[in-house]
Amino acid sequence: MSALHLLDTLSLTSGDITSILDDARLFLTATGLRTSVPPTLQGRTVTLAFFESSTRTRLSFEAAAKRLGAVTLLFTPTGSSVEKGETLGETFATIEAMGVDAIVLRHGVNGIHHEMSQNTSMSIINAGEGSRAHPTQALLDASTLLERLPIRARMAPLDGYRIVIVGDIRHSRVARSNVDVFLKLGAEVALCAPPTLAPDDDTMKGLQYFDCIEDACKWAHVVNLLRIQRERITADIVPGIDEYRERYAMTTERAQRYPDIVITHPGPVSLGVETDARVLTMSQSLVHRQVTHGVAVRMAILQRLLNPPTP
Ligand code: CP
Repeated sequence: MSALHLLDTLSLTSGDITSILDDARLFLTATGLRTSVPPTLQGRTVTLAFFESSTRTRLSFEAAAKRLGAVTLLFTPTGSSVEKGETLGETFATIEAMGVDAIVLRHGVNGIHHEMSQNTSMSIINAGEGSRAHPTQALLDASTLLERLPIRARMAPLDGYRIVIVGDIRHSRVARSNVDVFLKLGAEVALCAPPTLAPDDDTMKGLQYFDCIEDACKWAHVVNLLRIQRERITADIVPGIDEYRERYAMTTERAQRYPDIVITHPGPVSLGVETDARVLTMSQSLVHRQVTHGVAVRMAILQRLLNPPTP
């Protein structure tokens, strides 16, 4: 049997998404994570391979795999044979030969996850791919929102909810995956960004666009903040900090004026830029709960790929 992968959200149906989120819910409690879960991945090995920096995604995948009883191996490019010129294909073949079942890959090159999936028997899980996709972030964001937002008489899980994504959308893999998942779950989705950080491709065509967060706040139930991805920006296209905060930040004062708006952010947060430390502690912020959902959703994904239910 060929390995199952999670390469993006585009290949997931709304039924696939709700099934993953239903599984994830079983690993959550009202305030944290279940302490005792069946070790369904005992005997399986998962490698974490991060070619870009990460705190949340890397640690939560490691926690998820261990909670399910899997062994984890950490591959870091620095200090590895990548520094001697080894190709990614050869690195993958080497890891596969050690009996690894799944590889959780973060890489800056768009398309590399699909390319690597063509020639491996390991499951590949996309943990962040350039500016193209961050599927597990989108799934954990949806999971957190579904827990918080009151259930309505819905056709789809997020039917009737308006979500605006605010910030550096142009360089954001989170925005691209989140738009796809939120739309599939029935939400109305809008974008809010400075013109120089608005999308310049077709991936988010046709969405409503706000050019200041104040207008977006009058429309939205949920504000999904993004940080400015300075590591992907070469030209001088970032507005000054005062202008950015005035037009695009969820400042403490703005959050207090819109207490019913639910605030999310994938992290890491640039404090004092897109939002403030105080906002993260407000009850309308889901930022820390998102991290908890990250572990549960990644447990559900690992289980689905490595120990799928028999039909
Ligand atoms: N949201 C997210 O991907 O965070 P990390 O870069 O810390 O993994």
